[in-house]
Amino acid sequence: MRDFVNEKKLAAKEAVKLLFDHQIVGLGSGSSATFAIIEIGERVKNGLKIQGVPTSDKSKELAISLNIPLLEIEDVDSIDITIDGADEFTTDLNLIKGGGSFLLKEKVVASLTKREIIIADSSKKVELLGKFTVPVEVIPYASTYVTKQLEKLNGVGKVRLTDDKPLITEEGNYIIDTDFGLITDPATLSDKLHTITGVVEHGLFINLASVVIMGNGDSTVTFS
Ligand code: 5RP
Repeated sequence: MRDFVNEKKLAAKEAVKLLFDHQIVGLGSGSSATFAIIEIGERVKNGLKIQGVPTSDKSKELAISLNIPLLEIEDVDSIDITIDGADEFTTDLNLIKGGGSFLLKEKVVASLTKREIIIADSSKKVELLGKFTVPVEVIPYASTYVTKQLEKLNGVGKVRLTDDKPLITEEGNYIIDTDFGLITDPATLSDKLHTITGVVEHGLFINLASVVIMGNGDSTVTFS
């Protein structure tokens, strides 16, 4: 029986070894990224000089509590390295993200990032993306329209709920978790999703990751 929590910790530790002084560092969201932020906090306490750019309010609060200096997204032209998690990845480095509902900021930060490091436990590695539903972030007004458009792409979408009400993202949007079955051509699906009016972003991360560091039992494996 694999210890996925420990695998996340090992991957996070390995990723944080890649940081050095004066870098601007994207701080991901989710439990794996949280382990990385805690590890970065330790290194900052021991003298590492970096500035972080958080991808969610939760990661921002954690970074502040660990005295990690932060920058606002408006103040950076590029980000040297980002450490973030994923819900699924393939070994050609395509991802599904957004299980934690922070995909929009995560994708903006990834798009600004020179080296996007994904950390994951071994349950996240798949042959084809799509067992995990694709989160599609939409403006609330368009959610019914977008759900119908997703059906035309063979996607079965459900608005993500919290306490029986639609979950509202940090940017004030809804998320439609969409089952497309196994996705053989994620790049084409990504392009198609971007053409639907009312879609703000989606959780398919295509050609954005540079490396995936996966916890694998008591060690890690790197895919690049
Ligand atoms: C949040 C994300 C997370 O990176 C993803 O859900 C993985 O989370 P975890 O590290 O907790 O398994 O995309 O929006």
